[in-house]
Amino acid sequence: MSDTDTDDGEGSERETSEQPVLSVENVDAGYGETQVLRGLSLSIDEGEIVSLVGRNGAGKTTTLRTINGILPPTSGSVVYRGEDITSLDATATAKRGISLVPEERQIFPELSVLENLRLAAFGGAEDDEAYAISVDEALDTFENLAERVNNPGSSLSGGEQQMLAIARSMVAGADLMLLDEPTEGLAPYIVQDVMDIIEDLNDRGITVLLVEQNVHVSLELADRNYVIDRGQIVWEGTSAALEENREILDRHLGVSV
Ligand SMILES: Nc1ncnc2c1ncn2[C@@H]1O[C@H](COP(=O)(O)OP(=O)(O)O)[C@@H](O)[C@H]1O
Ligand SMILES: [Mg+2]
Repeated sequence: MSDTDTDDGEGSERETSEQPVLSVENVDAGYGETQVLRGLSLSIDEGEIVSLVGRNGAGKTTTLRTINGILPPTSGSVVYRGEDITSLDATATAKRGISLVPEERQIFPELSVLENLRLAAFGGAEDDEAYAISVDEALDTFENLAERVNNPGSSLSGGEQQMLAIARSMVAGADLMLLDEPTEGLAPYIVQDVMDIIEDLNDRGITVLLVEQNVHVSLELADRNYVIDRGQIVWEGTSAALEENREILDRHLGVSV
């Protein structure tokens, strides 16, 4: 495509190199008659860890489902690396490198750890080879999994299942990883392991949208945070700013610090 650098076009205030990885613009979405997201907008830049925090039922999971195409928005748009993906389904967004690691983890319980990883490598992103790591590399990164390569997914602990779900996403060539409450229900020392893994994958160039109930995890990992309430973004800022904002922490996150 030719780059005709004219001044009279609209929306050209950003240089291509500064184009956000993801831009969600004024999105409405819901389930049947129930509207959940109301004009929700957020954007994520290359290499960022951005968190989406808010109370139970605020619309966090719905936001991730709207981005990856499981639940198409009823209005507004989702733009990924300059391409309008609003009407694409989950298979099409996965091929572009958008990977949702759902709350329920969705590993294959009857398959071994190795089979789970190989299957992810086989069905992954088409043109994001740059981000894909090999199954061997994944096993080097996830030591717990390496010790259990031949064990069925169902035999893993909650923390190991979360690791396997993240490892599958990396092997599949995730470029933008959407993590839905990755630390939920895990013992504190495993929470730390999962946080280390998220930092590690971000160091490898994967951009992350992290949904968390545990605001302390968000504060530690995220470059920027969005606070969601009843389907709308009500606050946005750095972790340092959020940490100092007692009102937001108390009102929307139920944390007194
Ligand atoms: N499949 C569904 N059908 C109908 N309502 C749903 C469904 N999933 C979620 N909801 C409703 O949408 C709202 C937001 O849910 P969700 O996005 O899961 O919130 P969060 O992840 O922030 O806890 C809640 O009121 C929830 O009850
Ligand atoms: Mg949720």
